[in-house]
Amino acid sequence: MRAASVCFLVLWTGSLLSQTTKPPLTCATCHHEQTEHQPTTPMGIGMQLPPNQTVLAAHPKMTFEKFGYRYTVETKDGQSTYTVTDGNQTLTLPIRYAFGLHTQTYVLEHDGQFYESLVSYYPGVGGITITMGDEHLEPHSLLEAMGRPTATPEITACFGCHSSNSIKDGKLNLETLTPGLTCEHCHTGAQAHMDALAHGQSGVVPKKLGALAAEDMSSFCGQCHRTWETVIRTRKWGELNVRFQPYRLANSKCFNGADKRIACTACHDPHRDVVRNTASYDGNCLACHSSTNPCPVSKTNCASCHMPKMELPGSHALFTDHQIRIVKAGEPYPN
Ligand code: HEC
Ligand code: HEC
Ligand code: HEC
Ligand code: HEC
Ligand code: HEC
Ligand code: HEC
Ligand code: HEC
Repeated sequence: MRAASVCFLVLWTGSLLSQTTKPPLTCATCHHEQTEHQPTTPMGIGMQLPPNQTVLAAHPKMTFEKFGYRYTVETKDGQSTYTVTDGNQTLTLPIRYAFGLHTQTYVLEHDGQFYESLVSYYPGVGGITITMGDEHLEPHSLLEAMGRPTATPEITACFGCHSSNSIKDGKLNLETLTPGLTCEHCHTGAQAHMDALAHGQSGVVPKKLGALAAEDMSSFCGQCHRTWETVIRTRKWGELNVRFQPYRLANSKCFNGADKRIACTACHDPHRDVVRNTASYDGNCLACHSSTNPCPVSKTNCASCHMPKMELPGSHALFTDHQIRIVKAGEPYPN
């Protein structure tokens, strides 16, 4: 079901192997480095479907109460359910789409309509509590307490960013869904590339994303991480936009759209987990800051001061501000 196995249908008929038992040709056959970790990264996973809901399985019973409604997220015999009750009436729904790998929000189906669960799992809380953004909602019925109804464009977008092959001709198509981002999701044409190679034809190569300028890379990652334009257009001001790295980075004095040293991929390998050792990014800063205007304060751990981590209200998690800058104590959040 993972990225590499999407490709297993195509058999290797090239010249490398002439034995009768030919292993199936996959991306991993030739691109081991990219394939080794990508399927288990948060982007590669994107969401957890039964029977692979490890986060739910690790927390077999979670409860939460607010406004007189009691929530129970329970996993029994590999089946997870979402229950809300007001004491008189009870609504229980199966959990199929558990979005996210750390924080998890459930996309629930009821009477042919999709809902975003009103409570989510937060590792920082160790259980379920109100879904970020829904703190202000005061439910007036069991249905409203269960979740927030999502219109078709919104739910289609959710699946578009967190899964692959779930949208066909602009419409949601959950039968073909693969959780997370497959190679082909980012490398359009990769399947044709492999099919061609299986028939001994080289020269059908996906676009070289590594050739993108910093600005274009920000737009590419920004399809999901939100571009500068999206943030401006949707007027997402305030701390909320700390999650939208392409926007924050573009606001930094360090950003130069033509300079690859400030591209997302200069600091992040999209085929691997994000590196959680802040000092390990020093080389990225020093690629530009080595001799010109050295820091008067420190020679190491640059990002710890110039890319501060902040807790986004309601997220119960820390986010790294990509608006690289001199942080002044007590300053308001710079937009
Ligand atoms: C039989 C070996 C083989 C298989 C299988 C294969 N590739 Fe490739 N791939 C290559 C070679 C060789 C190149 C370099 C071609 C060139 O530069 O002319 C390449 C190039 C690429 C590139 C462009 C690299 C760049 O420089 O930016 C991407 C992306 C890519 N492959 C992805 C995939 C994906 C995804 C799969 C699985 C669906 C896959 N490949 C399967 C051999 C393979
Ligand atoms: C098709 C949508 C999509 C695109 C394109 C995309 N991302 Fe992501 N990315 C996601 C989603 C969704 C998550 C959160 C996954 C989760 O936690 O379940 C994520 C998470 C991440 C993380 C955090 C991973 C971690 O280990 O916690 C990093 C870093 C990241 N993306 C970098 C990038 C970079 C760099 C690019 C561009 C090369 C990119 N992304 C392009 C959807 C995307
Ligand atoms: C435009 C693309 C996009 C859309 C639409 C989108 N997400 Fe995400 N989502 C992301 C990205 C990118 C991240 C990672 C953000 C980060 O860590 O900076 C993310 C993170 C998350 C997380 C936290 C994951 C974690 O591991 O902590 C959850 C939960 C989530 N999204 C659920 C949803 C749900 C539910 C919807 C629809 C109601 C949705 N998302 C719509 C791109 C998207
Ligand atoms: C989130 C988007 C994303 C996903 C998913 C993704 N890639 Fe990539 N890939 C990129 C980007 C961006 C680059 C360019 C990296 C750079 O500039 O350093 C790249 C580069 C490559 C390259 C060229 C490497 C090189 O040294 O230049 C290969 C090969 C490749 N990817 C294969 C894969 C395979 C195989 C998978 C699935 C296991 C995959 N990618 C999944 C975004 C992605
Ligand atoms: C100059 C280096 C640098 C660049 C360029 C950069 N990042 Fe980051 N990024 C970091 C650092 C440092 C962290 C935090 C690592 C840690 O936890 O110590 C981080 C963390 C992240 C995370 C994890 C969530 C979080 O808030 O901690 C995501 C997602 C992410 N970056 C996406 C992007 C995207 C998308 C781009 C391009 C628009 C980008 N980054 C450009 C350095 C960079
Ligand atoms: C592509 C080159 C490049 C990279 C990579 C880069 N910077 Fe910069 N940075 C610049 C330029 C150019 C300026 C503006 C210099 C000026 O205005 O004199 C700047 C300005 C700054 C400033 C002063 C900002 C202010 O508010 O006055 C700080 C602090 C800084 N960079 C820190 C960092 C850190 C930390 C990193 C790594 C996380 C980094 N930079 C990565 C090019 C870069
Ligand atoms: C302990 C926090 C801290 C660390 C770590 C740190 N800085 Fe700074 N940096 C500052 C402060 C504070 C200033 C503003 C100093 C002032 O204005 O007197 C500054 C200023 C700067 C400036 C602006 C210099 C100028 O003359 O305009 C740059 C560029 C910079 N730092 C880059 C870096 C780089 C690169 C690293 C890592 C090698 C780094 N910083 C590590 C706190 C830090």
